[in-house]
Amino acid sequence: MNYMHVDYSTKIPNNVNLSEDRQVLKALEGWHPGYMNWWSDMGPEGFQQSLVYLRTAYSVDPRGWAKFDYVKMPDYRWGILLAPREENRVIPFGENYGKPAWQEVPGEHRAMLRRLIVIQGDTEPASVEQQRHLGKTAPSLYDLRNLFQVNVEEGRHLWAMVYLLQKYFGRDGREEADELLRRRSGDADSPRMLGAFNEATPDWLSFFMFTYFTDRDGKMQLHSLAQSGFDPLSRTCRFMLTEEAHHMFVGETGISRVVQRTCEAMKEAGIADPADIAKVRALGVIDLPTIQKKLNLHYSLSLDLFGSEVSTNAANAFNAGIKGRYRETQIEDDHRLPNATYPVLKLVDGAIKRVDEPALTALNMRLRDDYTQDCAKGMLRWNKIIASAGYGFKLSLPNVAFHRAIGEFRDIHATPDGVLIDDASWNKRRGEWLPSTADGDFIASLMTPVTEAGKFAPWISPPKVGIDNKPGDFEYVKIET
Ligand SMILES: [Fe+2]
Ligand SMILES: [Fe+2]
Repeated sequence: MNYMHVDYSTKIPNNVNLSEDRQVLKALEGWHPGYMNWWSDMGPEGFQQSLVYLRTAYSVDPRGWAKFDYVKMPDYRWGILLAPREENRVIPFGENYGKPAWQEVPGEHRAMLRRLIVIQGDTEPASVEQQRHLGKTAPSLYDLRNLFQVNVEEGRHLWAMVYLLQKYFGRDGREEADELLRRRSGDADSPRMLGAFNEATPDWLSFFMFTYFTDRDGKMQLHSLAQSGFDPLSRTCRFMLTEEAHHMFVGETGISRVVQRTCEAMKEAGIADPADIAKVRALGVIDLPTIQKKLNLHYSLSLDLFGSEVSTNAANAFNAGIKGRYRETQIEDDHRLPNATYPVLKLVDGAIKRVDEPALTALNMRLRDDYTQDCAKGMLRWNKIIASAGYGFKLSLPNVAFHRAIGEFRDIHATPDGVLIDDASWNKRRGEWLPSTADGDFIASLMTPVTEAGKFAPWISPPKVGIDNKPGDFEYVKIET
C-alpha cells in the first residue's frame, strides 16, 4: 500500500485505504454528520459562507504536503493522514525496547492507550470552541485567516484521534468518539477534560498566548506520543506535528507584532518608561506589563497540563512503550531507566527544592522542563524587539510554582520570582501578576475588527511576510455576510 497517496475520492480523504476498510469507513461516515453539526454549533461564529485562503493537507510527503486555495470552512476536506510507515520500526523505549512496533493495540495496554488518545482528542475541538468568538474582532484579514486555519486543523486533529478510536477500539472507541462531540469547553455539566481547555479566550492577545503556550504543550504531548510503540498512534502524531508548527508560529509572531507595535508607539510618543501604563494605553496599544501578565496566566495554565511532577501513570505509560520522552530516539541512555534519577522541583519544609526522584516517575517533570526550554525561545525574540527599540523592559517566564492548580505547588502561593507568600499577600497582590478585570476590559476595548485587505488594527504590526508568499494587501478572507 502506498501511504504517500491520499485518496480524495471518498467523502473522507485518507491515506489509510478506507475504501477497503468498510467497517471503519462506515463508522466514520456515521460520525461525520455529528461532526458537521458540532462545527456549525461550536466552530467559528460567522464567516461560514466566506471564502478563506486555507491550506489543506493533500500528501504526507515532507517536501510538499499542503496546497493553498479559497475554501468555505464547512467544505474543508478534513482527512485522515498518517505519516508513512517506517519499515522495521521498533519500540524505542520501555520494557519492550527493541521489539517490533505494534500494528494492533496490545491487549494489556488497551485501557491506557484509549485514555491517552481520548485526552489528546478532547483538546482538539476544545480550542476551536474557546476561539469561536474571535472572528468578529480580528485585527486583519491575515489574522482572521490564521485563526480559521488553526481551527480547521484542530478539527482535523479530532478526526485523526477519532479514526484511531474507531479503527482500533471497537465499540468503546465509537462511544468515546461520540463523547468527544458532546463535551463542551467551559460547560458546567460536561466540560472538556483539561483545565486550560475550559478557560475563555476572550481577545486576540489571549489567542496568541494560547497558540504560543498551550499549542506548545500539544507539541510536547504529540512528540511523546509520536515515540509510541503503537505504530498507528506514532504515525498519526508525526503528521499532526507538521500542522502544529504553524499554530505556534501564529502565536509567536502574533506576540512579536503586538510587542513591536507597542514599542513603536511608545517611541513615537517619547515615552521613556514602559511601566507608565496609563500613558501607554492612551496611545491605543497594549502596555508591556499587561503583556507580561497575560504571559504569566497562559504559561502557568499550560504547565498544569503536564500533570503531577511525580506520576506512576507516566512511569507505567513509559514502561509499557506507549508514551516516550521528547526526542526519545535522540537521547543517549538505555531507554529503560530502571535506576536513573531526575531532579524534581518540590516543596520541602516550606521551600522550593530540587530533589532527585526515580527518572521513571519523574517523566512529567522532564517533559515540562523540555517545554519550558522551548517556551524560553520566544522570550529571546520578544526581548530583542524591546531592546532594539531602546527599552530595558524584559518579558520573562514566571517561576513554575506561580499560580498552579496541579502538582507540587497547587496548595501554596508564590510570586512570579518563586518567593512563597501567604494567602493574604497573594490576594492583595495577584492583580500585579495576573490580568485583572480592568486589564481585560482595556484589551477588549481595542478589539475592533479590521476587514479591509492590507490594513491592521492600530495595536498590532503587520506581519513581515504573507501566508504562501502573498503580498501585503492580499484578501485572505472574502467576507460574505
Ligand atoms: Fe491540534
Ligand atoms: Fe494546535
